[in-house]
Parts: sequence; C-alpha cells; structure tokens
Amino acid sequence: MRRSVIAARNLVKRFADFEAVKGVNFTVCGGECFGLLGPNGAGKTSIAKMIYGFSPVTAGKLEVFGEDIMTGARNIKAKIGVVPQEDNLDPELTVWENLLVYAGYFRMPKDMAQRRAGDILAFMDLQDKSGAVVEQLSGGLKRRLTIGRALLNQPALLILDEPTTGLDPYARHLVWQRLKKLKESGTTMLLTTHYLEEAGQLCDRLIVLYHGEILERGAPRELIERHTGNDALELGVEPARHGVLMEGNEDLIKARQMLGDDLVLFTGHGRELAERISGRAAALGIPVRHQRLRPANLEDVFLKLTGETLKED
Ligand SMILES: Nc1ncnc2c1ncn2[C@@H]1O[C@H](COP(=O)(O)OP(=O)(O)OP(=O)(O)O)[C@@H](O)[C@H]1O
Ligand SMILES: [Mg+2]
Repeated sequence: MRRSVIAARNLVKRFADFEAVKGVNFTVCGGECFGLLGPNGAGKTSIAKMIYGFSPVTAGKLEVFGEDIMTGARNIKAKIGVVPQEDNLDPELTVWENLLVYAGYFRMPKDMAQRRAGDILAFMDLQDKSGAVVEQLSGGLKRRLTIGRALLNQPALLILDEPTTGLDPYARHLVWQRLKKLKESGTTMLLTTHYLEEAGQLCDRLIVLYHGEILERGAPRELIERHTGNDALELGVEPARHGVLMEGNEDLIKARQMLGDDLVLFTGHGRELAERISGRAAALGIPVRHQRLRPANLEDVFLKLTGETLKED
C-alpha cells in the first residue's frame, strides 16, 4: 500500500450557512495524479484551498503528508506547490523578479534561487520572457509562469486549480507534457479541471464532484467501462423511431443518452451493435441521417451522471 499524501475524512467547507463541501472522503496516494472534476460551483476550489492551507477546514479531518492541516500548515506549505485558479503574480515585476521574490518565501539561498528560476524558465518555455513585465504578458504566458513558480521549492505535492483554463492548444499541450514529466519524476498531483480530455490524459484516479458531494470515483477508464462501456454509437434518427430501432438489441446496449435530437448508444460491442442497428434500420426503412462509432469518453460519463455537459470555456 502506497503512502497517502492527502487524506480527507468527512471534509466540510461552509460559508455562513451555505455548505460548499458536504462531508467528502478521499485519499491521494504518493506519486499519483488525482483529479477533482465537476461543473462550476461544485466545490473544487474550496477543497483545493483547504489542502493548501489557504482556507480553514469547517469540519472533518484533512491530513497532508500525515499532518493535520489545521496544526501543521507551516510544515506542509514548505512541501507543496500551488497553482491557484486566479493568477496572483506581481504584475509590476518582471518574470524573473516574480520567481526570485517567490523563492524568498522559502528562504532559498540566492544562487539556488537563480539556478532554479533559470531551469524553470527553460522547462516552461519562457526563456525569452525573463525580462518582460508581468502585466504586459498574455493570460496564457502568465499561467505558464504561475505553474513554473509553483515548482521553485521542488514540491512533493503540486496542487493545480484549473492549470490550463484559458491556454491555447499549444500551451495546453506544453503544460500537459510538463505535468507528465513531473509525474514521472515522482511528484504527486491534485488537479482540478473542467477539461475532460485533460482529466483523461493526466489523472490516475478522480472524483466527480457535484454540489459539494462526490458522485463517482475511480480511474478514468474504469468509470467509462462502468457507466458506458468502451464504445459510443451516435445515430441521427428521428426520435419517434428510437424505440423501434433499439428493439432486440437491448443485450448490447449498456446505456443510452439523447444528445440534441441524436441518440447515443453506449456499449462494450460497438461494431456488432452498429451492424445490427444498420441492418434493422435498412429492414424497417428507418432513415439514418448519420451514424458514427467512436470511443466513449469521460464527457459521456459526466453527462450520464449529472444530465449536464461540462462546457469548455
Ligand atoms: N468565499 C465564499 N463565500 C461564499 N460562498 C463561496 C465562497 N467561495 C465559494 N463559495 C461558493 O461555494 C461553492 C463552491 O465554490 P468553488 O469555488 O469551490 O467551486 P468550483 O468547483 O471551484 O467552481 P469553478 O469551476 O467555477 O471554479 C459555490 O457555490 C460558490 O459560490
Ligand atoms: Mg474553482
């Protein structure tokens, strides 16, 4: 059994009489990337802020590196790197100065701070921005700097609250690649995200949060297999004909969902189901506007669990 880095037991966060986190339980093991997935307001940031000691725990127990966050925050903070949802860089300082000022919080010797800042600029592909004043940087560059800054103390645990929101596809892939490298080198990560592709690529395990509660948990593949099976068959067929089209194929249909006017059938046997459905449509003269077989994904699972899609913003 691997060492647990974060252990949350009946964790509650309340703001006045509003309960944002309603008694959640989860454990993050050393070396894994653990995802908090959920729509706006689900409670992801509230949980992240309690873990990095920014926001007090209302009730329950939260241990990080085996220490209670309410008493051990000082020790814990030295070992974690934080990428908050809102960038909190110093806008008036340059990229380089932001890194050195931050290193000062960890009482790092100057030569070490400079060496690490240099490495981080290279790692985040920001070398040519070293002298740029932060307020003149684009949002995506600021985000990359915030992520880089979180690495200064070489944290054993990295908390990333929507690290790639607002990044263009190039920057997003760069960040994913860097996070994968950090994971390979043994960094434990807690990642909140709206991007289901991000969760699928990076997270070993995740929880789906909804209104402050955990709806589901598991490895991405596991969740897909449990709820939808591996394949999704999208069918552009008149809704009135859906029932008759599915008749006789129930043995292969694990779940179904409407997506606009389209019918999506989830199955572990995509090809077989697609052939049967085509055959049945042809035999009964049911017009099929389009038909597409694709792998099922976390978006499908999320839709099935909540009836909502996670809009990419
Ligand atoms: N300081 C606060 N005071 C009162 N309510 C708050 C406060 N911070 C968060 N909330 C409420 O708690 C709930 C959870 O918010 P939280 O920021 O944790 O959600 P989230 O999952 O991170 O959402 P998003 O995807 O939009 O970042 C929301 O309903 C929010 O309005
Ligand atoms: Mg948030």
